[in-house]
Amino acid sequence: MKQANKADVLLGLQWGDEGKGKIVDVLTPNYQLIARFQGGPNAGHTLEFENRKYVLHTIPSGIFHAGSKNLIGSGVVIDPYIFSQELDHLDIDQEQLRQSLLISARAHLITPGHRLLDAANEASKGLKKIGSTLKGIGPTYTDKIARSGLRLGDSSHPDFENIYQQLKESHLRLVKGLGYSKDDFKIECMPFDEYEKQWFEGLHRIQQLQLVESEVYINQALDSGVKVLAEGAQGTLLDIDFGSYPFVTSSNTIAAGACTGLGLAPTRIGEVFGIFKAYCTRVGSGPFPTELFDADGENLRKSGNEFGSTTGRPRRCGWLDLPALKYSVMLNGVSQLIMTKVDVLSEMKQFKVCVGYNYNGKLVEFLPSSYEPEKLKPVLIDFKGWHCDLASFKSIEELPAELHAYLRLIEDFVKVPIEIVSTGPDRTQTLFRK
Ligand code: GDP
Ligand code: IMO
Ligand code: MG
Repeated sequence: MKQANKADVLLGLQWGDEGKGKIVDVLTPNYQLIARFQGGPNAGHTLEFENRKYVLHTIPSGIFHAGSKNLIGSGVVIDPYIFSQELDHLDIDQEQLRQSLLISARAHLITPGHRLLDAANEASKGLKKIGSTLKGIGPTYTDKIARSGLRLGDSSHPDFENIYQQLKESHLRLVKGLGYSKDDFKIECMPFDEYEKQWFEGLHRIQQLQLVESEVYINQALDSGVKVLAEGAQGTLLDIDFGSYPFVTSSNTIAAGACTGLGLAPTRIGEVFGIFKAYCTRVGSGPFPTELFDADGENLRKSGNEFGSTTGRPRRCGWLDLPALKYSVMLNGVSQLIMTKVDVLSEMKQFKVCVGYNYNGKLVEFLPSSYEPEKLKPVLIDFKGWHCDLASFKSIEELPAELHAYLRLIEDFVKVPIEIVSTGPDRTQTLFRK
């Protein structure tokens, strides 16, 4: 019997920013359709090639390959203003863009009211704030689940402006309840009313693009043999169900999110590419067992240029956390691993890796669902660095022995092979197994 055609998935295994954008761009020549399945402009996916650098927020990372189509799935939330800005910065022929970009009519809209509410929610939390990107993600998914959200496909409905106004009024009441007004916050450096005006202009622009019934489109594409890669945003440890709640994002970032966010049955998922950095970073609040507060942390931040692609905030840095990686591999059914930013460790003669945790005097293999961070200590082992420039290496097999030992340690711990190693931000700085 002929093997059914399945969609592959690529997603982050840590707290986001693992290099998903770069690797999706590298893999796109093997695919004809790239589909984002969740999240929104809280994501910042960086691509570098031919001395140019782009940061994508909502648009899938296959967009620079003329031969591929790019679908924004129903699980994604869209801010029309940010989306419109993103289109302006793409530097791609408008007709090519119109042909290659498809957007789900079921995708929910992030409204100016959602942005305001996100700002007010965070401000009211004080020291307990989540460290949100303030892109309106939480309030938009809240309204989606509460069945009061606005979908892109409904925006051409004659009653849309009325429904929009009602939703806005309810957001303003919530903001007032938190002790704020719309004049207390700027959105994208603009007063609320100006932002709202530009938001509607962005919405009219999106309406000129191809809106599709994405779940039907993607399933029919698979039926006709099209190769599909689903692109995740954020990372597994920010998943709404399995991340370090409440310091998480508001969507399912795990492989199951590709099913719900694109309308794919679980039986239609093929390879699951899990991507992770050779160390760990996190932006925003929340527990981070291997976080470094010393010169090593500062060195990682500097050599890895660890500053948020969306907000510019410095990323917290720490050693690779193998139990957390194993947990992520388990949740996603990862079949192939991709390790990025290996070059960042090249300067270190020695570094550390976490192989377990000590909690209240007991050894634990997985992070508990709730714990007191100050009572949990990572069990760290020392690792000898390779301490050389990786630029001249052409395949994984050729890499230095110490780096091979690092790859083996990880593979033995999580029981999945590392098939791709990234040694720099550029498309060309990518090594495969022979
Ligand atoms: P994403 O959100 O997972 O797409 O990752 P980001 O783009 O937010 O952050 C990853 C950062 O690391 C970007 O600045 C990339 O250009 C950069 N990057 C990706 N892979 C590598 C690598 O192997 N080495 C180095 N030094 N930088 C990398
Ligand atoms: P990409 O796709 C890293 C973090 C925020 C915050 C928490 C909740 O580029 O990997 P939200 O705006 O979703 O309410 O923020 O999640 N966060 C990310 N961190 N990379 C991302 O996306 C992120 N998207 C959200 O910093 O801690
Ligand atoms: Mg990012």
